[in-house]
Amino acid sequence: MTTSQDIPDQGRPDDDPAELSQWERFGVDTTAPHSARVYDYWLGGKTNFPPDRAMGQAIEEAVPSVKQMAKANRAFQGRAVRHLAREHGIRQFLDLGTGIPTSPNTHEIAEAVSPGTRVVYVDNDPIVLAHARALMVSSPASRTTYIHADLRKPEELFTDPALTATLDLTQPVGLLMIAVLMLIADEDDPWGRVAALRDALPAGSCIALTTPTQDFDPEAVGKVTEAARAGGMTLVPRTHDDVLRFFDGWDLVEPGLSPVLAWRPDGEPPADPKAAYYWGGVAVKR
Ligand SMILES: C[S@@+](CC[C@H](N)C(=O)[O-])C[C@H]1O[C@@H](n2cnc3c(N)ncnc32)[C@H](O)[C@@H]1O
Repeated sequence: MTTSQDIPDQGRPDDDPAELSQWERFGVDTTAPHSARVYDYWLGGKTNFPPDRAMGQAIEEAVPSVKQMAKANRAFQGRAVRHLAREHGIRQFLDLGTGIPTSPNTHEIAEAVSPGTRVVYVDNDPIVLAHARALMVSSPASRTTYIHADLRKPEELFTDPALTATLDLTQPVGLLMIAVLMLIADEDDPWGRVAALRDALPAGSCIALTTPTQDFDPEAVGKVTEAARAGGMTLVPRTHDDVLRFFDGWDLVEPGLSPVLAWRPDGEPPADPKAAYYWGGVAVKR
């Protein structure tokens, strides 16, 4: 088990080469941008390195409000988790594509509604592994586990002993896929993979997902995908119809698949719901 003492100091403005090289023992490549760290940079985190910041800034040139959009996406996650816990009685969550821990994390949000909630975090990036194991500490009453796995292999995920020891797959599960499906290319069949995940869950389970879209500003988002491609990263924005297919056969709760800012906002509705280029939705398996 990794502890916080094992983790090198996080990326700093001077990015000390000795510290960067320490990350190598975790299998982290600090020479190329990575989605988790670019996103961490936008959220104001410290776990990012020069190539991540360079890509983050290149994308920011195309979409100057990209940092606010990342925060809007996180805020959707908070509202969705609270909704699932309060309105659907979800007491166990599977958070796929967890990212670098950013408080409030899923277990913190869910435990505030219902102490004792179980959470399994899943990511396939070694830097997330290092941080999540050390930092995602649940309350004594609850069970929080981290699994290093690939959401494109649901059969391996659902038989992982750490998952089956934490989640009761005969009971409803809240499946979160927040800002992760854009990292799976069409050729990798994200719809087939998500269908396999849906099929593995019992009635009463819910999905909450977000994914970026070009629907609100095709030109700017075209530049984003170009910047990602130039940095060697897959980033596939998707249309409303393409995103709807991820929920196939499950009932979307009101207001349906919406711009994340417009999905059950806390307080006043946003002046411009399309100011964050993400679709977000929540659906239930009947
Ligand atoms: C942009 S971050 C989003 C983090 C978090 N869900 C959020 O919205 O704040 C995407 C995360 O998905 C992870 N990821 C990408 N492809 C994955 C895969 N095939 N299986 C598991 N995790 C994946 C990345 O490593 C990264 O940590």
